[in-house]
Amino acid sequence: MKKAISLRVNGIQRSAEVEPRMTLLELVREQFNLTGAKLGCDIQVCGACTLLVDGQPMSACSVLAVDADGRDILTIEGLSGKDSLHPLQEAFMEFGALQCGYCTSGFILTAKALLDECARPSEQQIREYLAGNFCRCGCYQEIMQAIKNVAGS
Ligand code: FES
Ligand code: FES
Repeated sequence: MKKAISLRVNGIQRSAEVEPRMTLLELVREQFNLTGAKLGCDIQVCGACTLLVDGQPMSACSVLAVDADGRDILTIEGLSGKDSLHPLQEAFMEFGALQCGYCTSGFILTAKALLDECARPSEQQIREYLAGNFCRCGCYQEIMQAIKNVAGS
């Protein structure tokens, strides 16, 4: 039986009727057409599905949509300004921190959460915070450069 939920997505109040088994990732991708977050491992390991839930990075593959009721969700589509990209998005392009891009949304949102918590993290702090995000293309060096550049570290 479906349940009605209401949540804020990228600053906009949204409502939906969801099956109890539907994940938050399925909700944003299939019902809200926000497809930046990707399904990778489906077991909370790779970080490709990361969204910010009340400002905290979460694996949306492993969060039930019903549990997102009343929460504030940020997807990569809500990160940029109307006429400009977020500095992390700019830096990822500038430093070539992506190849296929499958992991990129997760990396950028996780890095945003880190920088919101700690404006000038050390390299070690960045590495530890991003430990749950995998890049199968192996762009780790460029990703670190991009984040360090935004952090001014
Ligand atoms: S798809 Fe969710 S963590 Fe890998
Ligand atoms: S850019 Fe391809 S998985 Fe990271």
